[in-house]
Formats: sequence, structure tokens, C-alpha cells
Amino acid sequence: MLETPAISSVPLGKEFRVLRVAVVGSGPSGVYTAQSLVQQDPEVLVDVLDRLPCPFGLVRYGVAPDHEKIKSLQSNLRTVLEHERVRFLGGIRIGAGGVPPARLRELYHAVVYCVGAATDRHLGVPGEELPGSWSATEFVSWYSAHPDTVAEGFLSDVRSAVVVGVGNVAVDVTRILARRTAELSPTDMPQAALTALAASEVGEIHMVGRRGPSQARFTTKELRELGGLPDTEVVVDEAELALDPAYGDPSALPAAQRRNVEVLRDWAAAAPGRGARRRIRLRFFLRPVELLARQGRLGAVRFERTLPDAHGGVTGSGRYEDIEAQLALRSVGYRGVPLEGLPFDPERGTVPHLAGRVLREGAVAPGEYVAGWIKRGPTGVIGTNRPCAKETATSLLADGPVLARRELPRDPLELLRATGAEPVGWAGWLAIERAEAALGASLGRGVVKLPDWAALRLAAGSAEICVQDTQQQHR
Ligand SMILES: Cc1cc2nc3c(=O)[nH]c(=O)nc-3n(C[C@H](O)[C@H](O)[C@H](O)COP(=O)(O)OP(=O)(O)OC[C@H]3O[C@@H](n4cnc5c(N)ncnc54)[C@H](O)[C@@H]3O)c2cc1C
Ligand SMILES: NC(=O)c1ccc[n+]([C@@H]2O[C@H](COP(=O)([O-])OP(=O)(O)OC[C@H]3O[C@@H](n4cnc5c(N)ncnc54)[C@H](OP(=O)(O)O)[C@@H]3O)[C@@H](O)[C@H]2O)c1
Repeated sequence: MLETPAISSVPLGKEFRVLRVAVVGSGPSGVYTAQSLVQQDPEVLVDVLDRLPCPFGLVRYGVAPDHEKIKSLQSNLRTVLEHERVRFLGGIRIGAGGVPPARLRELYHAVVYCVGAATDRHLGVPGEELPGSWSATEFVSWYSAHPDTVAEGFLSDVRSAVVVGVGNVAVDVTRILARRTAELSPTDMPQAALTALAASEVGEIHMVGRRGPSQARFTTKELRELGGLPDTEVVVDEAELALDPAYGDPSALPAAQRRNVEVLRDWAAAAPGRGARRRIRLRFFLRPVELLARQGRLGAVRFERTLPDAHGGVTGSGRYEDIEAQLALRSVGYRGVPLEGLPFDPERGTVPHLAGRVLREGAVAPGEYVAGWIKRGPTGVIGTNRPCAKETATSLLADGPVLARRELPRDPLELLRATGAEPVGWAGWLAIERAEAALGASLGRGVVKLPDWAALRLAAGSAEICVQDTQQQHR
């Protein structure tokens, strides 16, 4: 049984010092918040809670499996979760169907919400719900083995795919569609996704932006990678690029955009390749207006040609183009979801805050904080979350002397369990890692992710009852 000593505030002179903090979410922002708290304050104790039994958020369930180097950032995040004053408690959902935020506030001096942006934006055009039309979020969750994934059959009878959007997620899903089995097999991709991608007959992938190449959101490194894919040709139409006023003279563009335009220009100028098994067509100035059905499923995506409006936006031209596709992946950004009991700005999909302090009706809510995508919105790479988390941790610690005056109940874990939560501690996570290594070995691959809740629970289960490490912070 897990034992934790009573944690009440310890007076140091006139100050009260020991702070017990819950961080909700173990993605980059949650882990960086925990790191910043323990680095800045030698007394603070942090529980990092996640609704999943596995830590690391989108680093595990979003970063593309063929980006091993970025995936390996997990080992840095892991060091933080193994810190003696940090404890990982997976399998605990906060909000609807789980522990109410108000209950959490009773158990900790402060709570930091780092819950990310769990859902996708919609296009709002007819046909969006046709079979064959998916959000990139669903596709990413499938090939990343997110346990909530229910969808399959993305690739059944698909010869042509449209990816709507030209951000880095669009590049990720385009690349995964184009990759061959030999390149995907060494990754930790779940076996069912690998099998489906190996059998895929997708020959054409159209990645389509509604604005011009100088306004695309992808980064040059990610864009260039498309050009290096084996057996794949990248096709760009110079006439379409030339619609962009910056195309003729990209020197006035910021460096990142200029490099993108230069890469695209080189591709447009290249002689047509021959015999590649797959083609990636990068298209610009086309906005989706309808998804068209053929025989009860997606058959094509209708786009309207747009033209630059001289203010960075576009206007419709009244001319349309249908691109044949049996699969559409809508990659138009993520969106935060409201957490029951927390304020929410529906326009921005974020929690209102002041330097990380949650605002309720414009006033600071003592003891409640946010960091990461739920604070800033769904943009920025992993590293962007570090300064964001530091700002929040700094605000929290500044409030600490006041927050720590409150006497807390003895053991948050027992009280969390009393709400019906079944926490998976660090030992449970390590057991999942071992099971994934064993699964991979049995398939003749490296580590292979467990694909669903049942497998994760089974793997973690044996370790749950002897989670001696969840006591680590309360030595
Ligand atoms: C598909 C994709 C690929 C990406 N690839 C890269 C890349 O290659 N390189 C890069 O630098 N950046 C990449 N990014 C961006 C990067 O992943 C984000 O900047 C970062 O993950 C945001 O961190 P976060 O902690 O705010 O959210 P998340 O990483 O989403 O973490 C949120 C955590 O909160 C948990 N949670 C949510 N709701 C609850 C709840 N109610 N109760 C308890 N726990 C909850 C979730 O399970 C999750 O673990 C990618 C993003 C996406 C979407
Ligand atoms: N390797 C990496 O480093 C990596 C990998 C994946 C993700 N990330 C990061 O994660 C964050 C999220 O990435 P993301 O790709 O989801 O979002 P994003 O960068 O915001 O890109 C969204 C794309 O969708 C388009 N879009 C939005 N609404 C649309 C609509 N109604 N119709 C057509 N197009 C529409 C946008 O076009 P407009 O510009 O015209 O609005 C943009 O091209 C980014 O910061 C990204 O850099 C990083």
C-alpha cells in the first residue's frame, strides 16, 4: 500500500514553505512545469497526473514515429519524472467522468493544468463527415497507437489522398502516407497501422494550402524531407507559385519563409521524375469548399481557386477544381477542449490567464494555473513549452507563501483512489515499456507500441500494486 506522510505547510520563520502541487498533463508543458518548479524551489513536491497510463503527451502520441531523434526527447522528459520530488500518476482523468477540479484543489496547494489541445478544428464545408474524410488528429492517433483510437480503414481502396492544410502536421501525415514499409518497420508504430500502410495503394498525395507558398506554416527542414523520400516524386506547379506576390523576389521575406519558397522553386524547376511509385503534389491558393460523394463515400474534394488580397489573406475567384480522392485528411490545426469546472475562452480554445494564473471572470483564481497549448493555443514546437512553463511556475512560486498556508489532507493518492481513479505509477509505466519491447521482439521489430486500453492496463496492472516508486517524493 502506498504511504505518504501528512503534508502540512512547514513554517520557516514567518514563511510557510512546503508546497504540494498537482500538474495535470504529462506532455512537454506539464513536464517542463514540474522541472521548473523543482529547480526553482528546493522544497516543492509535484504530482504529475495524466488520464493516460503513459507519460509524454504528444511526444509519444503525436510526434511522427519516423522522427526518432525528436521522439528521443522522451528520455529528457523522463529524467524529470524520475526526480525524487516528482511523482507520475497515470490513469487519472481530471474533469468530466473523472476527478473534479474542485476536489483536486482540496488535495493540493496549487494545480497547474497542462492538458494540451485534444481535438481538431473543422472546415465547416458540406461533405466533411463523408466516409473517407478524417481529421489528421484521427489519423495521427491511429498510427501513434493512442488508446482512444477507434477508427480503422483509413486506407481501404484509396488510390489518391488529399491533405488539407500546409502546416507541419500536414507534412507529417503526407510523409507517413508516402513512406515504404522498410522505413516504417523499425519505428514503434503499432503493428496494425504498419500492416495497413504496407498494403496501401496510395499513389497520389495532394497537400493543399488555401494561401500562398510564402504563407505556408511548415518549416523548411520538414518540407525538404519530402524531397528525400525514396521512390517518391514531389511535384510543384511554377504557375501556382507565381500567384504569390513574394515569389518573384523572396528576399524581402523573413528567412524561414524565404527558404520555403526557395525549396519549392527548386522543385518546380526540376525535370519531371520517371517511374516513382508515389507522387506528392504540393498545391497552393486552393480553398476547400465541398467534399463530394461517389458511391456513398468520398470521391473528390472541390476547391475554389483563391487569389492574394494584398493583406496576407485571399479572396475567392469563383473558379473551382475537383481533386479526385478517396481519402481526405483535414490538417487545419488543433483545438483546446473545455475542462469541466475551469473557465474557457471558446474563441481561442484556451483557458484565460495572466502570466499562467487562471482568470475567473477577469480575476485571478488563487492556486489555479495553466501552461502549454491550453494556455497559448495549439502552436509551437516542444521547446516552445519550456519558457511558457517557466513563466507559469514562476507565477506559482511567487504565490507559494500564501498558498502553502492551507493545511492539506494526509495522502492525495488515497483520496484520489476514493474518487474511483486507478492510478498507474512509474512502475506501471516501466512495465508498459517492457511489454512494448517484448511485443516488438515477438514481431521481429524494435519496440512496438501497445495498441489499446486493454493491453496497456494489462501490462501496467501487475506493477500497480507494488508502485513503491510512487512514494519516491515522500521519503
Ligand atoms: C501531430 C503532432 C506532431 C508534432 N510533432 C512535433 C515535432 O516533431 N517536434 C516538435 O517540436 N513539436 C511537435 N509537435 C508540437 C508539440 O507536440 C506540442 O508543442 C506539445 O506537445 C504541446 O505540449 P502540451 O503539454 O501543451 O500538450 P500535450 O503534449 O498534448 O500534453 C497534454 C497531456 O495532458 C493529458 N490530458 C489531457 N486532458 C486531460 C485530463 N482531463 N486529465 C488528465 N490528463 C489530461 C493528455 O493525455 C496529455 O498527456 C507536434 C504536434 C502535433 C499535434
Ligand atoms: N516537426 C515539427 O517540428 C512539428 C510537427 C508537427 C507539428 N508541429 C507544430 O505543431 C503546431 C500545430 O501544427 P499544425 O500543422 O496542426 O497547425 P498549423 O501550423 O497552425 O497549420 C494549420 C494549417 O491549416 C490551414 N488551415 C486552417 N484552417 C483552414 C481552413 N478552414 N481551410 C484550409 N486550410 C486551413 C492553415 O492555413 P492558414 O495559414 O491559411 O490559416 C495552415 O496551413 C505547429 O506549431 C507546428 O509547427 C511541429
